[in-house]
Amino acid sequence: MGKPVPRIREAVSPRPGPRVHRVRDAAATAAAKSPHTPAPLHVTTCAKVNLSLEIIRRREDGYHEIETIFQSIDLADAIEIELTSDARIEIECTDASIPTDERNLCHRAIVAMRPVAGASLGARMRIEKRIPSGAGLGGGSGNAAGILLAVCRGLRLDVAPEKLARIGATLGSDVPFFLHGGTMLGRGRGELLTPMEPLKQGVFVVVKPDVSIPTPWAYAQPTFGLTSHRPRLNLRAANSVLARFPRSALPFRNALEAAVVPAFPAVARLLEELLSEQPCFASMTGSGSAVYAIFTHEDRAVEVARRFAQRGLFASVAKPTRQAIEIR
Ligand code: C5P
Repeated sequence: MGKPVPRIREAVSPRPGPRVHRVRDAAATAAAKSPHTPAPLHVTTCAKVNLSLEIIRRREDGYHEIETIFQSIDLADAIEIELTSDARIEIECTDASIPTDERNLCHRAIVAMRPVAGASLGARMRIEKRIPSGAGLGGGSGNAAGILLAVCRGLRLDVAPEKLARIGATLGSDVPFFLHGGTMLGRGRGELLTPMEPLKQGVFVVVKPDVSIPTPWAYAQPTFGLTSHRPRLNLRAANSVLARFPRSALPFRNALEAAVVPAFPAVARLLEELLSEQPCFASMTGSGSAVYAIFTHEDRAVEVARRFAQRGLFASVAKPTRQAIEIR
């Protein structure tokens, strides 16, 4: 990072012919206006857990119609991003297992913003990973949402929230959630959002076994129970439970556990171990492999997490947040 970049100004086409709407190249305009390389932005992107996940039906597009309650937590990645107008995308990542090429969701997020920010949009990004991948914690999706918001902030783009959510949904089903964070009901493939009563109390212990689970694998298993025969989530009742938590128990489950737990004994064992600590609630998050438990007292959560960490497992204490992305 740091070197000035060549500026490209998009030429206005003098050619005659039908008028076409041209996207203002905001990246090039910003570069032309500012005599200096723009200051890097520091983006913090939270993880999520699913407090509830029910699968309604298989869809024709290969996805599943779900009903889920997302909760953002303050286990977070840190991204430093420098926006450029040279159409180059460079990524450094502290986690060597994560690809830094076109497969990286931050790379795809920059490409997805070009129709609104201009074809010359480029970026140099340094991702400090604290959220484990293949864990159901939405780390990559949160990173992508952070980049969408950083491009808007950095180039002072006024993109309608619905439009940004649509762009986000092309990158991943839970990217729209991360644009908001907090406690949200997700329907459709997870992208149709309704804010819920925020979870104010509870300390999360997140533990990940030494196995990563690809989301498509979990959804392809025939072993989870479809929820269509059960009553759909009653929003008012669920909000009332959330508002009273931890005085009232969470009556939720993650339907994907039925597919993952039998196939991954390590996940089953960790869930059992967490439950034996008598938390207020314990569940797998998303398609796993991470599991979490919620405790009322922070010192108890710290003690439980420490015991898992001593065994060499990823274990972290986290609190619920009202937002998923912070940009400085
Ligand atoms: O949208 P995302 O890229 O996170 O989804 C990854 C994969 O997970 C999809 O390709 C699909 O196989 C599965 N999936 C699903 N139904 C959902 C969300 C994800 O079947 N609602």
